[in-house]
Amino acid sequence: MRARIIGTGSCLPDKSATNEYLSTIVDTSDSWIQSRTGIRERHLVSSETETTLSMAASAARAALEDSGLLPEQIDLIIVATVSSDFITPSAACMVQKELGAMKAAAFDINAACSGFLFALHAADAYFQAGIYQTALIIGVETLSKIIDWTDRSTCVLFGDGAGAVVAKASQEGMIASLQGSDGTGGEILMCKNRANNNPYIATGTAPDYLYMDGQEVFKFAVKKVPACIQSLLAQAELPASEVKYYLLHQANYRIIASIARKLKLPLEKFPSNVDHCGNTSAASIPILLDEVHKAGKLSPGDLLLLSGFGAGLTWGAALLKW
Ligand code: COA
Repeated sequence: MRARIIGTGSCLPDKSATNEYLSTIVDTSDSWIQSRTGIRERHLVSSETETTLSMAASAARAALEDSGLLPEQIDLIIVATVSSDFITPSAACMVQKELGAMKAAAFDINAACSGFLFALHAADAYFQAGIYQTALIIGVETLSKIIDWTDRSTCVLFGDGAGAVVAKASQEGMIASLQGSDGTGGEILMCKNRANNNPYIATGTAPDYLYMDGQEVFKFAVKKVPACIQSLLAQAELPASEVKYYLLHQANYRIIASIARKLKLPLEKFPSNVDHCGNTSAASIPILLDEVHKAGKLSPGDLLLLSGFGAGLTWGAALLKW
């Protein structure tokens, strides 16, 4: 049995921060941001009640409603995030409590922007092993709390949000998937945690914010994602043209366009929401999938290829039948 997606949902914070607004905070401009990234605006949490949990639960409720399943029918909850509200309990356990999905085992995955794909891969493996039959898989980020709002080279890129899918063990669904990591590249995109503060080591330094070497990340993405896509297509013995949509991690429209060029595929096969969401890390692919599904663009039997890359370094891809 493989993972079949039977419902999607998403949640974006109410407040949208335009490029013009950011140019009042740091030395930047709408034209610089749009020409280098394709981003016009991103959504940011703007009250104490908008949290990683609130967005994850809202996306999850929408996905459950779309799937027709009830919370108590869910066996497994995996939340992919680098910006959980708490260190412990996990975001997945908090979502479980919020929804009343008390039958489920729940845990988080940290694979940065590839996190949703790692979570989907894990759920599919549980299904293949016959351990679980239903899963709620959520990608959620409140990146605004780990961003350095004085660094114009990163703060204009990211946004907050959540996307969720409900998957069921089925004869058809996932066709092939892969995931990978290269910890030697970890320093090009990182956010250190709080320093030790025990009686032996009293460092007292403040928690760090996100750091990125943008050009190195760009080079990594445009090399790794086409390789992942080609590997899955070869595994499935499918020509690239048979895939209806390539749903890629939404980091930068130039990266998406460069990948489409490398694969010699028309841009129409690459739906994008980076213009209004920015980079929402683990949430980006499930938010995009929900938008495409809710716009009525998917029919049963359509082939979709999801692929992403992120900090770690990590990467992943999934080829599936809708
Ligand atoms: N507004 C205006 N100028 C900016 C700016 C901003 N927001 N951010 C950087 N600049 C400036 C730089 O200071 C630099 O100025 P200088 O030439 O005077 O030194 C100039 O713009 C060019 O900077 P550079 O970093 O070379 O730009 P770039 O063309 O590489 O674009 C990124 C920067 C971040 C948009 C691009 O590298 C990128 O998209 N990388 C991938 C990031 C990514 O995908 N991250 C997510 C991973 S999951």
